[in-house]
Amino acid sequence: MTKVFGHRGCSGTYPENTMLAFRKAVEAGVDGMEFDLHLTKDNKLVIIHDETIDRTSNGSGAVRDMTLEELRQYDFSAAFPGEYGVCRIPTLEEYFEMVKDLPLISNIELKTGVWEYPGIEQAAIDMVRAYHLEDRIIFSSFNHTTVERCKALAPDIKCGFLTENWPSRFGAYTALHGIECCHPPLHMLSEKTVAEMHDAGCEINTWTVNTEEDAKRLAGWGVDALIGNYPERMLGWIK
Ligand code: G3P
Ligand code: MG
Repeated sequence: MTKVFGHRGCSGTYPENTMLAFRKAVEAGVDGMEFDLHLTKDNKLVIIHDETIDRTSNGSGAVRDMTLEELRQYDFSAAFPGEYGVCRIPTLEEYFEMVKDLPLISNIELKTGVWEYPGIEQAAIDMVRAYHLEDRIIFSSFNHTTVERCKALAPDIKCGFLTENWPSRFGAYTALHGIECCHPPLHMLSEKTVAEMHDAGCEINTWTVNTEEDAKRLAGWGVDALIGNYPERMLGWIK
C-alpha cells in the first residue's frame, strides 16, 4: 500500500517545517514525515528548508551564522502572517521528542547542496541512535556524497538519493551505490521508470504530490510513498 508522507509537515496549510505543521500531520494520520536539516553556528541540528531564514521567518541571515539561541528569537510563520501565532524553528531533538513513540517514518533531508556542514551526518546519526529510531528513518539528500557518508557511518539506517535531473536508469545507479531508496520528482515517473527502479530493488518515494489525479496515478503504479504538502487530503484520496 502506498504511504503518505507530509512534505515539511502539513506545509500547504500550516507554516512549513514547524512543530505545528508536524503535529497536524501526525493528527491526520500520515505514515511519514519529510523535513529538511541544517546545522547552526553552535552545531545544533535545526529543521528548516533554506540556507537562510529570510523567506520563512521575520528575520534574515544564514542559519550557519547564527546560534540556536539567536535563531529561536524569530517567528517562522511568515507564510501565514498572524494566523497561527509565533512558530519557533524546531530542533531535530524537539521533533524526535514528539515522534519517538509513534510508528512514523521520518525522512530527514540533509541540505548540504550549498554548504556541506562538516559533521552533520554523524550528528544526525547520533541523535537517531539516542532516540532508538534507526528502523524508522530515511536519510536523503541531493548531495549523493552526503548520502554515501550516512550509509558508511550507519549501514543499518535506510538512505535515499534525491534527484531532479532525470537520470537514466536511476534505480540501477542507486542500487550500485548500495542505497535503498530513489527520491525522484513526480514528473520523472512513468510506468517504465517506476518499473526500472523497482526492478533494481529500490523503494520509490516521490515528491511533491499535491493533486488527487497525480496521487491516484502514482499509487496505481505502486509507488511506495507520496510526499506532499497536503498529506491530510492525500490520505483521503488514496487510502
Ligand atoms: O525530499 C523531497 C523534497 O523535499 C526535495 O526538495 O527543495 O522541497 O527540499 P525540497
Ligand atoms: Mg525537502
